Amino acid sequence: TRVLVLNGPNLNRLGTREPEIYGTATLAELHAELRGLAEGVEIDLRQSNDEAELIGWLHDAVDARTPVILNPAAFTHYSYALRDAVALVTEAGIPVIEVHLSNPHAREEFRHTSVISGVATGVIAGFGFGSYRLALVHLLAR
Ligand code: DQA
Repeated sequence: TRVLVLNGPNLNRLGTREPEIYGTATLAELHAELRGLAEGVEIDLRQSNDEAELIGWLHDAVDARTPVILNPAAFTHYSYALRDAVALVTEAGIPVIEVHLSNPHAREEFRHTSVISGVATGVIAGFGFGSYRLALVHLLAR
């Protein structure tokens, strides 16, 4: 796999989940769009509501040296376990790009803190699916 795209909790509900914030397109549509952009490149797209599963996938990324695009969703704001797993990847010299559909800084106070950003390679937020597209363009250009 050349690129791993990980989506955290509740993002399987895109399309109907707070559409005024996240839009009406579904996770399947996001996946289709990213597959189209990554034509000819192996891209692995996954979603989990389970912290342990996301951590396991980050461990796999270390072992396989796969760059990661990660939307940690609500785990962004409080999961030190996910942060430590992201640090395992970036400390191994493998990029992890934190992405968000919305701009968390323009929302509730509790969303202003990311425990992930300090160990991520970079952060892209506020551009809807464009956040993922920009991250993918960067990784494909490397
Ligand atoms: C999110 C922002 C988070 O605060 C929220 O918990 C999400 C989605 C985003 O993509 O904008 O689930 O990561």
